[in-house]
Amino acid sequence: MRFRCQGPSLVVDTPAKLNLFLDVRGKRPDGYHELETLMVSIGLFDTLRFSPRSDGRVSLETQSLPAGTESLSSGPDNLIVRAALLLAEEAGCKAGVTMTLQKRIPLQSGMGGGSSDAAATLVGLNRFWRSGLSMDALHRLASRLGSDINFFLGSSPLAVCRGRGEQIEQTRLGTPLHFVLAKPASGLSTADVFRTWRASSSTQDPAQLLTSLRTGRVHAIGKQLHNALQTPAAELSSDVRDALQRLRRHPFLGTAMTGSGSTCFGLCASRAQARSIGGALRAAGPMRIWVASTSV
Ligand code: C5P
Repeated sequence: MRFRCQGPSLVVDTPAKLNLFLDVRGKRPDGYHELETLMVSIGLFDTLRFSPRSDGRVSLETQSLPAGTESLSSGPDNLIVRAALLLAEEAGCKAGVTMTLQKRIPLQSGMGGGSSDAAATLVGLNRFWRSGLSMDALHRLASRLGSDINFFLGSSPLAVCRGRGEQIEQTRLGTPLHFVLAKPASGLSTADVFRTWRASSSTQDPAQLLTSLRTGRVHAIGKQLHNALQTPAAELSSDVRDALQRLRRHPFLGTAMTGSGSTCFGLCASRAQARSIGGALRAAGPMRIWVASTSV
């Protein structure tokens, strides 16, 4: 998350994420699924601007929404608005704010855009309103709002996340990683993908991948990518099957789907290779293609 001041406004660039490992350990009594996942933040950003207003109200405006984000609401159901109202209540703040969102991370893509925006709202407004809430307090609010938001409050690009996803353990990433992302036209609902997931007798352990990530062994990382939601997502969506097939035609170190989809990605040996494969995939159409590296 990157902050800058522009006159009376505070501007935050807030990143997307990729799941390099995701294993589902079973369904919990509260209806959520118990997870163990390794997430990295990447250099594809939404931008949120916080500007003062005098009437004490909290409002959200969205700027020219790109393809795949048109359905985003700016009403009270938007996670940004919910995060702002929750923070205002917790901090007893009556100052109000006009929030402007420039959306680049597609919806229903498994890249955590909504969660990242909510995390940026909690941290950004805590600064903007000078609320003085501690990081622990912000983490508590984050876990009330959703499962992936806590990850984006972290300062490291890599974390192990457990529980619903909200218990984070930040750790060192040994080397920057370079990816090509392929987002099919259709998205996937997280709830639908979890509903389609079926328990299997074996669980996967992320220990080896974690060691490879900490020591920066990219070839090993490529071989150890894993996502237990990939099979149910591919069952639900021929677009996901198609995206994975297209990626596998290129010399990636490894390919996988992120989160509950529908974005799939390939890991590259270098940024130059990512640019070159990204160009070839773009020319082949019709999916949206990004080249992105790990970033905070
Ligand atoms: O917490 P979040 O709003 O991101 O989750 C969206 C939906 O995904 C939940 O309502 C739930 O159906 C499903 N989910 C789950 N187990 C998780 C995280 C999400 O079943 N660990």
